[in-house]
Amino acid sequence: MIDGLEGVIAANTVLSDVDGLAGRLIIRGYSLDDLAGRTRFEDVAHLLFDGFFDDMPSDLTRALGEARVAVFAETVAIDAGLLKLTPVEAMRALTARLPDGDGLGAALKLLAAPAVFIPAVVRAQAGQSLVPPDATLRHSADILRMLRGRPASEAEAEALDAYLVTVSDHGLNASTFAARVVASTQAGLTSAVLAGVSALKGPLHGGAPGPVIDMLDGIGRPENARAWLEAALDRGERLMGFGHRVYRVRDPRADVLKAAVRRMSEGSNVLPGRVAFAEAVETAALTILRDRKPDRPLDINVEFYTALLLEALAFPPATFTGVFAMGRVAGWIAHAREQLVGGRLIRPASRYIGPRPRQAA
Ligand code: COA
Repeated sequence: MIDGLEGVIAANTVLSDVDGLAGRLIIRGYSLDDLAGRTRFEDVAHLLFDGFFDDMPSDLTRALGEARVAVFAETVAIDAGLLKLTPVEAMRALTARLPDGDGLGAALKLLAAPAVFIPAVVRAQAGQSLVPPDATLRHSADILRMLRGRPASEAEAEALDAYLVTVSDHGLNASTFAARVVASTQAGLTSAVLAGVSALKGPLHGGAPGPVIDMLDGIGRPENARAWLEAALDRGERLMGFGHRVYRVRDPRADVLKAAVRRMSEGSNVLPGRVAFAEAVETAALTILRDRKPDRPLDINVEFYTALLLEALAFPPATFTGVFAMGRVAGWIAHAREQLVGGRLIRPASRYIGPRPRQAA
């Protein structure tokens, strides 16, 4: 099958396995359910990096904290041109200032980069002073502190960790494939990560959760859901947060994130209502999609509850793709190293279907 390379196996990997029929995700030997909500992002990054770098410390928390501090000190200089870009574009531009390398030092700076750059860009765009990283904090707590300028609660840091772990790796998705292609040329880790960011930002991949908020805001009230969704489909639009290339059942990441949002909503006055509203929209969308596309199983994907979780953590919707990159960068780096260590140059063939040269008269 050439169309979208669906079903083509383009790499062997030890990093993650997506079972689209069973709705299961394995990250380096662990089921997602056993990692998300129980592990910090830095522990899953350690799990993904293990064996791909010579000098790995036993715990990445401090090394990643120091990488955040170094990246902030060496790289964050936000000029007027960057302020005009979207947060993910500005983050990509800042990341491009990091030199290419293949070792752990380069990898840790890249792991830190979206986490440092997205809060810095958001604050600069809002005319606020930047909040430098604190190397002693866990990654998720420091991201929230750099974004909002105040310490995060334990529950908030745990919710962000659940998200970052959930999206840390996911087989040969478009951005990871892009990163592996670039890594296979031996261009270096920064180049591979930039390829990943560029592929991630499209609305068919990591750009969907912002539009999920637009959809929820457009619907406004549960009783409007059916008519609003039907009208969107009549206009030929896709429902953001639904459908997946690999999953033919519920995306397992959706339920992990829904559980994380539910945990966060305990003790909140506003969040339970927002969750109930989102559930009503989800139910209406699934009913309509089943009616309209009986032959194509379309279920909820990771982006729907991502939107709710990141909104509850006060990330502006324009940053959602950048927050996705904060987690997925771990997978890009690990895949890039796996490709470099054990792979060959990726160079597939194309079938020429254009005109043949005319015969000379
Ligand atoms: N809403 C409505 N219809 C959808 C749909 C959605 N979210 N996702 C797929 N479909 C329909 C398509 O219109 C198509 O119907 P058709 O055959 O009658 O034209 C059919 O399902 C197959 O779609 P296709 O584009 O071939 O699937 P894909 O595997 O290439 O696409 C996605 C996967 C994720 C790009 C797609 O489901 C989508 O656009 N989803 C919305 C964006 C999103 O949530 N992205 C985040 C992904 S994690």
